Amino acid sequence: MKKINMSLIQYGVVPVLILFNLQRAVGQDENVLMLPNVRSTFDDCHLRFHKLDVIGVVSPVFGHPARLKEFAHMGAIGWTQPNGNISWKCGGTLIWVNFVLTAAHCVIDSENKAPDVIRFGDLNIESTEGDEYAQQLKIVDIFRHPQHRFTSHYHDIALLKLEHNVTLTEVVAPACLWTDEEVRFKILEATGWGRTGYAEDQTPVLLKVALKPIENVECSKVYTNGTDRKLQNGLQQHQICAVDEKMDTCEGDSGGPLQIKLMHNAKVTPFVVAITSFGTACGLSAPGVYTKVAPYHDWILETMQKNGALVPNDVYNATFCALRYVSLREYEDAIIASRTPDYVGVNSDRRHMFLVDKLPSYIVQLAWNGKTNNCYGVIIDEDTVLTLAQCVTHNRERVSHIKYLNTITMKVSRIHVHPKYEQESSYNNIAILRLQHFINVNNFDPACLWQDETPSWEVHVHGSGRRDINSFWHDGSIDPSISILTPRVRFQNATSCIVPIRYLPLLRNGLTNEHICNGQNLFLVPKSCDLVTGAAVHEKVYRSSNVYPMVYGLNFLGRECGFGEHSIAIGMASHAEWMKTILFSNYRKSHDTIQFVDTDHQEGDSCHRYDGRAARCVPVSSCSRRWKQFLSNGTIELCSTSSLICCPLNDIAVTEQNVVHPQLAECPALVENLNITSPARSLVSIGWLISEGMEFRCLGTIITKNIILTTASCVGDEVPAVVQTSGSLETQKMYEVDAILVHYAFNATDDTNDIAMIRLRDTLVWRSDLFPSCLWTDTTKVPLVLSMVSPDNTNRVGLTRVVAMYNSDCQRTHMYDIQDSQLCARNPSENFTCNTMSDQLRFDSSTRVSYIVGLSTDFDKCEQSRYTVFTRISSYVHWIGINI
Ligand SMILES: *[C@@H]1O[C@H](CO)[C@@H](O)[C@H](O)[C@H]1NC(C)=O
Ligand SMILES: *[C@@H]1O[C@H](CO)[C@@H](O)[C@H](O)[C@H]1NC(C)=O
Ligand SMILES: *[C@@H]1O[C@H](CO)[C@@H](O)[C@H](O)[C@H]1NC(C)=O
Ligand SMILES: *[C@@H]1O[C@H](CO)[C@@H](O)[C@H](O)[C@H]1NC(C)=O
Ligand SMILES: *[C@@H]1O[C@H](CO)[C@@H](O)[C@H](O)[C@H]1NC(C)=O
Ligand SMILES: *[C@@H]1O[C@H](CO)[C@@H](O)[C@H](O)[C@H]1NC(C)=O
Ligand SMILES: *[C@@H]1O[C@H](CO)[C@@H](O)[C@H](O)[C@H]1NC(C)=O
Ligand SMILES: *[C@@H]1O[C@H](CO)[C@@H](O)[C@H](O)[C@H]1NC(C)=O
Ligand SMILES: *[C@@H]1O[C@H](CO)[C@@H](O)[C@H](O)[C@H]1NC(C)=O
Repeated sequence: MKKINMSLIQYGVVPVLILFNLQRAVGQDENVLMLPNVRSTFDDCHLRFHKLDVIGVVSPVFGHPARLKEFAHMGAIGWTQPNGNISWKCGGTLIWVNFVLTAAHCVIDSENKAPDVIRFGDLNIESTEGDEYAQQLKIVDIFRHPQHRFTSHYHDIALLKLEHNVTLTEVVAPACLWTDEEVRFKILEATGWGRTGYAEDQTPVLLKVALKPIENVECSKVYTNGTDRKLQNGLQQHQICAVDEKMDTCEGDSGGPLQIKLMHNAKVTPFVVAITSFGTACGLSAPGVYTKVAPYHDWILETMQKNGALVPNDVYNATFCALRYVSLREYEDAIIASRTPDYVGVNSDRRHMFLVDKLPSYIVQLAWNGKTNNCYGVIIDEDTVLTLAQCVTHNRERVSHIKYLNTITMKVSRIHVHPKYEQESSYNNIAILRLQHFINVNNFDPACLWQDETPSWEVHVHGSGRRDINSFWHDGSIDPSISILTPRVRFQNATSCIVPIRYLPLLRNGLTNEHICNGQNLFLVPKSCDLVTGAAVHEKVYRSSNVYPMVYGLNFLGRECGFGEHSIAIGMASHAEWMKTILFSNYRKSHDTIQFVDTDHQEGDSCHRYDGRAARCVPVSSCSRRWKQFLSNGTIELCSTSSLICCPLNDIAVTEQNVVHPQLAECPALVENLNITSPARSLVSIGWLISEGMEFRCLGTIITKNIILTTASCVGDEVPAVVQTSGSLETQKMYEVDAILVHYAFNATDDTNDIAMIRLRDTLVWRSDLFPSCLWTDTTKVPLVLSMVSPDNTNRVGLTRVVAMYNSDCQRTHMYDIQDSQLCARNPSENFTCNTMSDQLRFDSSTRVSYIVGLSTDFDKCEQSRYTVFTRISSYVHWIGINI
């Protein structure tokens, strides 16, 4: 006996781009989608919003020549010896076409001599390999920070001016500066021609090493006051420590950069965070100490400006700096599909940032009598929007409208905020808005809600940001216009989730099951991407030949769209129960009351109740006593779906009625053996004798050798004279009517029980072009896609593909109560679903058996209605059987 979440059991996991079928075969085709009578999950939009088209996906791959661009800003600082040899003793960073940033202690060597040259674009400084890319320039001026003293480690920063501009190439280009005092990175990279061990020779090859920044307090334990003469006042604000956790390499070269690569335009630009200042002996894994760049931004700028560099004051604004040399930068790793020494294959589909013209149609903006803010929601149904509880109120006003497809506004008629939500809290931050009118969803897809565990695949979120810094293939020009962004992110678990420190006060109880943490570990150029509050964490899911937008959660907390530090969303799965109590009519909280007993048992199977009573899986309608008990209080045991009850045998009193009459039961086998020509040959026209001759008013269908099934509204009070079989003029034949039987409970007002039988005088003889339609007898579900057969003016039949709907869905706009014995269907290609008086809903199986599933009732308001109501045949199998 297991208690399990309802939706999990029924539908299982839906991996992206994997086709699967909702339900198992039901005696006919394996691949036929079925619509259960009763809605019990949100994971069903491939049924409710089924489209009849298929969509494909393409992904372009292209190539681009590549050289090593990773160290384009790294320079080796050299001292020319009397013999002409150069000794390379420090590193520096190119930060402008003719300025290099280094450590102040690098401006003299042990012999008190100043460096005179710098070399860029050379990975292997001692060999001649790759020298064609190298540029070596003279140093013409040195600017040491005025507060620096050679007797201390403080203000260890200097600028070197070069004899002329470097030639900008992919392997020689300036870096940017990280000018924010807050260093939010968890890992930084040091580079240099560093030694690989204590007292060893400098390695000639450029190295990079990942370092972890640590708090100064932590670091001070090593560098305590007084132990280092050059650090008499301890570590200062302008210094930062970083440690190599792997302990296998030393810190980078003195004067070289401690840097982070920030992503933009599917490329990465290095940002210098600090300059390598000093460290203790290698191999002890002691932290290195670095001079932060941010506190010296103004000094750097002024020094360059005073000494001939024509730089604007915002030269190190992250956006402008990153754009400046975008064409020279390396691609972000994610898009590199293949790499050879001189060629990089790039797959742009794998980039992290996508620009879109507009938000998907299912995302709506909330509005307060004309005003809007950064608050959004998702359309999950024709009249329902899901949003954050925090978004409902703005300046003490409650949301009044939603705006969709950018322009259309619609009034909100009801607001349901989660009852446990508290103002400004990050818990139960969810709300449902009901709209005054229905949104036409023929033109777009409402969102599906993910009901399962957080998946491992990547998804997308919504943000907004400048076009220039985010677009792919950007030439570096300035374009401050704002675009919608859909960055690609990954779900993070409790261990891997990094919440920005500033948001921790909003998460007093930490992260709980309802939160989904999402983002990337890669950092963006700051201020590139602003999260859209209340918009979806989403991905397209391929299901039943359609692509649907799946929503996993609504983001409400995060910066930089979850890049570097992650975003927090309210997950859709955790609040499903509350949502069902509001959205599903007659839904009871099922947590403790619904139990699935034998989840693979189908109708008719015997099942095991927990009280041990003998039981069988039957439709809800056949176990009405138990069902009514359940609705009033109590628990219920279900089989494979929520419309199959594991019913105690002595409660299945009505089941006997469901025994199918033998003439009806043998139908599928009979038709299969006939090798029929066209399923339409089981249709007949029903004709009345009028003064001018014969008038055919409606359709019927042959179900036995002398019985025709049709609607009560068709035959009315006037007994028809004949039925005429279909087909070519030669095969058409008229048969005389003997009697009619109209359902005793037919109600012409609400069209309930609209069914009738016609008995023929003669008996038909089965042929491959004259045979019966079989009855759809399954009382729990119908095939999702059906054919609607309608007679036209000339008495030929037309065929329209329609999609079955939940009764609860058409009930929302229907004038009368829709009964279980009725069935709704709509034409997904049209705004309105029209029918004539005697249309039939049919399902043609792959075994060439044609089933009759529904009969249309007298329904002439088709201009206004999205659906048509039919008489559900499976509800009348018993009535038909006893009257045959
Ligand atoms: C100068 O460099 C050359 C080539 O690297 C080397 O052979 C020579 O010994 C060096 N001279 C001195 C004095 O170090
Ligand atoms: C050096 O580059 C700067 C910035 O691109 C430019 O303004 C200046 O004219 C260049 N100087 C020379 C001599 O080309
Ligand atoms: C080091 O000295 C400075 C100034 O004298 C003082 O502010 C700081 O607290 C001291 N740090 C430690 C770890 O003792
Ligand atoms: C860079 O400048 C733009 C335009 O002035 C501004 O919007 C943006 O905030 C600046 N970026 C940073 C990181 O300060
Ligand atoms: C959390 O995610 C990280 C990175 O994706 C993974 O290495 C780790 O195993 C995960 N931890 C748990 C407890 O699932
Ligand atoms: C409600 O449940 C209680 C306990 O399970 C049971 O005794 C009682 O008969 C039930 N009432 C109805 C109306 O089913
Ligand atoms: C069914 O009929 C088709 C022609 O309509 C014929 O080609 C085929 O052989 C028949 N199959 C059987 C099993 O009789
Ligand atoms: C027929 O249906 C209407 C609407 O549901 C209802 O008001 C009326 O009572 C019904 N008539 C009969 C005879 O049941
Ligand atoms: C359905 O209605 C919308 C407007 O609500 C219209 O744009 C669209 O063209 C209509 N579709 C069809 C198939 O008539």
